[in-house]
Amino acid sequence: MSVNQGVAAGGLAVLVMASGLTPVAAAEFDRGRALYENHCRVCHEDWAHTGEGRRVNSLEGLRARVSSWSVHSGLQWDTEEIEDVTRYLNRRFYQLTP
Ligand code: HEC
Repeated sequence: MSVNQGVAAGGLAVLVMASGLTPVAAAEFDRGRALYENHCRVCHEDWAHTGEGRRVNSLEGLRARVSSWSVHSGLQWDTEEIEDVTRYLNRRFYQLTP
């Protein structure tokens, strides 16, 4: 990250706090992560998404897994929640492209 980007991001954060608004990107990141940490991390984190046992190899596959886990866990997440968690996991572990 360049110095300019760092300054711009810092400025944005201050602006957001001052205005009380949350930018969409930040809200999505936080929600996907919070949902995962609250409901899914009891069973697994890194080991399920990295290394030998990992089976997901496409973004569609990841989304399908997140969706079925939300059903298994009795959460019945809507499309947006599934998308948020899929993006969070993809950003953090998989780096898959559509
Ligand atoms: C009851 C325990 C449990 C809970 C709760 C749980 N998981 Fe899992 N999960 C597992 C186990 C065990 C595996 C590895 C075996 C498998 O793939 O079925 C796994 C695998 C996965 C995988 C596939 C990883 C890969 O690359 O193969 C994804 C994605 C996943 N879980 C997402 C979630 C999400 C999202 C939630 C929350 C809604 C969740 N899980 C909740 C036990 C759990």
